[in-house]
Amino acid sequence: MRKEQFICPYEVYDSKEELPQQDAELLQRAHDAARNAYAPYSKFNVGAAVRLANGVIVLGNNVENAAYPSGLCAERVAMFAAMAQYPGVPFEALAVTAWSATKAIDEPVAPCGACRQVMVEVEQFSKRPLRVLCQGDTGVVMVFDGIESLMPFIFLDKFL
Ligand code: THU
Repeated sequence: MRKEQFICPYEVYDSKEELPQQDAELLQRAHDAARNAYAPYSKFNVGAAVRLANGVIVLGNNVENAAYPSGLCAERVAMFAAMAQYPGVPFEALAVTAWSATKAIDEPVAPCGACRQVMVEVEQFSKRPLRVLCQGDTGVVMVFDGIESLMPFIFLDKFL
């Protein structure tokens, strides 16, 4: 037996203003998208913005449903919308953020496992690291340069 460890490197920025300009713009678009969230049940309003290699930014927000599992996270709404509207165009980056009228969200929003698995697929076909930026309504920004830092031991198509 031997013990091993997985290192997950990421960057932390004290605020949006500290980010490189392209990242700051993408994150701001995610904040804007969060205003469109349809989250009457959780009241947790999430926004996501995807930047594609052609320079286009595609937005998404969470969309809930009275039949709870029928809803979808903001990240997957944005990624699927981008793949539907710009098929085959590689992804460069994805930003995610959230706000709530009922509580302060001052920690970065961590994408759920299902969204991370979709990010894996996106990164694979994009043939470049997917830059993922996470922020709450306020507070620090976490930046992951590639999905492996967010999703160790990923399930890949090579297993199929
Ligand atoms: N949600 C997202 O949209 N993205 C995440 O990364 C985490 C959770 C949504 C799903 C649901 O509408 C609400 O937030 C509460 O879980």
